Amino acid sequence: MRDTVSRRAALRLMGGAVGVVAAVTGGFGSPARALDRGRVDGLVRQLTLDEKISLLHGANDPASLGQAGYVPGVKRLGIPPLRLADGPAGVRVTRHATALPAPVLLASAFDPELARRYGQVIGQEGRALGQDVLLSPMVNLIRTPYAGRNFETFSEDPLLSSDLVAAEITGIQGAGLIATVKHYALNNQEKDRGSVDVRVDEQTLHECELRGFEAAVEAGTGAVMGAYNKVDGTFACENKALLTGILRERWGFDGFVMTDWDAAHSTVAALTAGLDMEMPEGKYFGAALKAAVADGSVPERDVDRAVRRVLTVMDRFGLLAADAPPRPRRDPQAGAAVALEIAKAGATLLRNAHDTLPLRPGTSVAVIGPTGSLPSVSGGGSAHVVPDHATSPLDTITSRAGNVTYALGEDLFGTPVPAAALRPALAADGHRVAAGQDWSYDGTLTVTDADEWTFVLHFSGDPVARPTVHLDGAELFPLAPGYEEYFVGGVVSAAPDGMTVRRATLHLTPGSHPLRISARGGDSGRHFRLHRITRATRARDVTEAAEAARAADTVVLFAYEDATEGRDRARLALPGNQERLIAAVTEANPRTTVVLNTSSATSMPWLERTGAVLQMYYPGQEGAEATAAVLYGECDPGGRLTQSFPVDDDHHPVAGDRRRYPGRDGVEEYSEGIHLGYRWYDAEGVRPLFPFGHGLSYTAFTYEELSARAVGQGIEVSLVVRNTGARAGIAVPQVYIGPSERLRLEQAVRVLGGYRRLALGPGERRRVSVRVDARTLSSWDPHTHDRVLGTGPRTVWAGASAGDLRLRTSVEVGG
Ligand code: BGC
Repeated sequence: MRDTVSRRAALRLMGGAVGVVAAVTGGFGSPARALDRGRVDGLVRQLTLDEKISLLHGANDPASLGQAGYVPGVKRLGIPPLRLADGPAGVRVTRHATALPAPVLLASAFDPELARRYGQVIGQEGRALGQDVLLSPMVNLIRTPYAGRNFETFSEDPLLSSDLVAAEITGIQGAGLIATVKHYALNNQEKDRGSVDVRVDEQTLHECELRGFEAAVEAGTGAVMGAYNKVDGTFACENKALLTGILRERWGFDGFVMTDWDAAHSTVAALTAGLDMEMPEGKYFGAALKAAVADGSVPERDVDRAVRRVLTVMDRFGLLAADAPPRPRRDPQAGAAVALEIAKAGATLLRNAHDTLPLRPGTSVAVIGPTGSLPSVSGGGSAHVVPDHATSPLDTITSRAGNVTYALGEDLFGTPVPAAALRPALAADGHRVAAGQDWSYDGTLTVTDADEWTFVLHFSGDPVARPTVHLDGAELFPLAPGYEEYFVGGVVSAAPDGMTVRRATLHLTPGSHPLRISARGGDSGRHFRLHRITRATRARDVTEAAEAARAADTVVLFAYEDATEGRDRARLALPGNQERLIAAVTEANPRTTVVLNTSSATSMPWLERTGAVLQMYYPGQEGAEATAAVLYGECDPGGRLTQSFPVDDDHHPVAGDRRRYPGRDGVEEYSEGIHLGYRWYDAEGVRPLFPFGHGLSYTAFTYEELSARAVGQGIEVSLVVRNTGARAGIAVPQVYIGPSERLRLEQAVRVLGGYRRLALGPGERRRVSVRVDARTLSSWDPHTHDRVLGTGPRTVWAGASAGDLRLRTSVEVGG
């Protein structure tokens, strides 16, 4: 039974001082360490202004463990340094860590308890790897299917997201690591994230995006990270309404607020608005802050306030005590077990026609696609983790199938530009320029037929100092602006041997093309190679894949799409040559399962031609094992979509309106209002390709005997779920609530009221009850600036997804 209010209270306790200290000092039975305000005040009194300021901004870490942030402590007063590491799917340092499934896959399990265990693994590993603060979880809602970080966050639904963020923070902090909920607020897209000004009405802000952040505060998060974007004209990191009005005064947050990396824009305005810490340096909160105190534009008590907040959190986690908690050892086996369990639990089966799945051991299988042989582990940017290990799906399928063939289907990394096409001759497959040396080539590339070439440059070292390649006088791989060069995705941007990869596609006319390559060895030397893919090599790869498909009983085709922070996707289609590949392979063998290692929604014009589609997102280091276990029916695919999948680029909440997305003249309007995600599809009567909550099982369930009754200001919904099939399986019954006629406010056709994840044996029937709390039954009233309960009769639906609501009843809310 979900009892959000009391459960939240319990979570808060567990994630707060008592639980944290008990956990890090040897278990929940240990005596709790009380918060020592006197200790913090005493420290603030003893700190010099320079020392105080040093606690409010990042600096270089002398130990260089590879984490994102570092704040030096003040040794003479026993204040230790703080190390701050990403991130959402595991601890991101230079050393190995458990690469967990992407948060969106975790969320797909609809199970807060799994989120707590996910957090616990990261919490323990973060502590073991020398870290004090985790830069996670991310709880921004999925608003647009194009957003580059949809894999790093949970869902489009505020209730589900807030349940998961609270549970994950409890896990992280229960292991002694300080959690940082991010990115506060409205960082719902990556396009123009550093400048876009988000305009959203008060009701929408509170009902949608803020709900997860408030849940994080209730769960006791130690830190909050401000977003890059502006909100209502003011940068989030200096937005007083957000940082003080809502966060401190309304929600009572007592931790510290840091910027996102380089997201500070001012000294006085930011500190006054409620920002406490600048990351990763001290451009505004270093010398500039000292000068502002000296000239009186910042009273020192404002500096003290920020310092006190940082120290209070450190004290709460036992970091200021003489007997600071010891760091645990990593437990890679335990991490791997959780990673595997969650990847299986979140696996979302979107389609399964003609009993294509589960696969029968012993039948012959063609594995197709570059990510069939290369493990797709994690997304890019700050969510990347150095995994303990990673297996390829080809290996995990081979260990079950016996008779397996493999076809690449699409070559991502190319083959060397043929030496014969280059004058003077150049072996394009592998150059090393020694440290301190420069190297260049001036020649011609001769092609005999008009063709489309994709040049693929592989190189080692810093991408910004990579070799330059000019063809016909034009630079083939120009540098992307700002940090974008460093934001690369998982599989596509690195060759199997780890070299970084850049691509450029152009039409070549027959004849000779001047080619100039230059490379610098820099401090440590540089490797590079120039490869190419042509129309002919592409066609050959597709033909070979179709032949392999035709010869096998069944096909598993792995489709990729790499996402990273710093950029959005341009289209919902699978990138590269994949649509053509799927068309050819499904024609050759309709018993084709497409496994999607993608970040978010994908359009699937090829859907009807497939046998099955399994959404695995970025499944972490155990992803290949989990994928094979689901394909072979060793477990039921337990995941459900946490976002609606649109049919195409023209039918989704932000389609066709540039003010809505990605913004016009620097301003973006959330003009869909509260109708985010499935609410928009319901309001507009648009059918998605797959609705929120959708996911198939290998067995079948019926839903019966729905009833609902008021309990205080909330309601309790009861229904019976029956497994009518012959296999054990996972059901995720969902309850949705209709609007209140008594409220004169915009309301959704229906909102998710609650859910349960159930394992049911063959023939098993279980009555479940789902509590819907007053918060979910309320709307935000912009006139009173508060929530108002939607009383009176409310429709209650129950079923398998937002698009499959089989049962309906009604209940009188509010007595
Ligand atoms: C991201 C943050 C991350 C930070 C530190 C930024 O680019 O937006 O989510 O925590 O980098 O790596």
